[in-house]
Amino acid sequence: MRNVFAAAALAALAAIPAQADEITWSGAINPVFEKHCIACHGSDAPEYAAFKKDKETWLKKGIGMRMETYSHLVSFAGWPNSGALMRRLDDGSGSKEGKAGNMYKHLGADEQERQANLALFRKWVGNWNLKRWNDLSKEELSGLKVKY
Ligand code: HEC
Repeated sequence: MRNVFAAAALAALAAIPAQADEITWSGAINPVFEKHCIACHGSDAPEYAAFKKDKETWLKKGIGMRMETYSHLVSFAGWPNSGALMRRLDDGSGSKEGKAGNMYKHLGADEQERQANLALFRKWVGNWNLKRWNDLSKEELSGLKVKY
């Protein structure tokens, strides 16, 4: 019996570093999203294509496109809206012009919180890259982590 407990304790210890390194959508990203993004990107917001079709109407309402599920959000990092999440959230250090993306300001109430949350998004995405689909290499795409 004691051996069983010892084995279980060791297994639990061994699992800690892997989990601490890994930023997942369900563990780290979704809570940030629910706090800072969902007001404009929730389930009542339109699909991306529907948003684009009627952009002026949605913009007047101050609502963006749906992004509140894992699958939706991943489509703004990998495909089809490759790099959109990164271009919008970047603080300017990833772009040639040094200009922050227009969603960066929503990441937190002050610079410290924005930087901390940006760091989470960066780790979650893995290969933080502002490029669009046509400019991305297969290697760059393979570097995306976006774990559930
Ligand atoms: C106050 C409302 C509001 C909040 C809060 C907000 N957004 Fe947005 N977002 C918008 C609107 C409106 C658009 C569409 C207009 C535009 O492209 O800027 C948009 C566009 C985007 C896009 C571009 C999608 C594309 O490919 O065109 C991304 C990515 C994005 N938001 C991510 C986020 C994230 C992540 C957060 C939270 C950190 C967030 N937004 C918070 C309103 C908001």
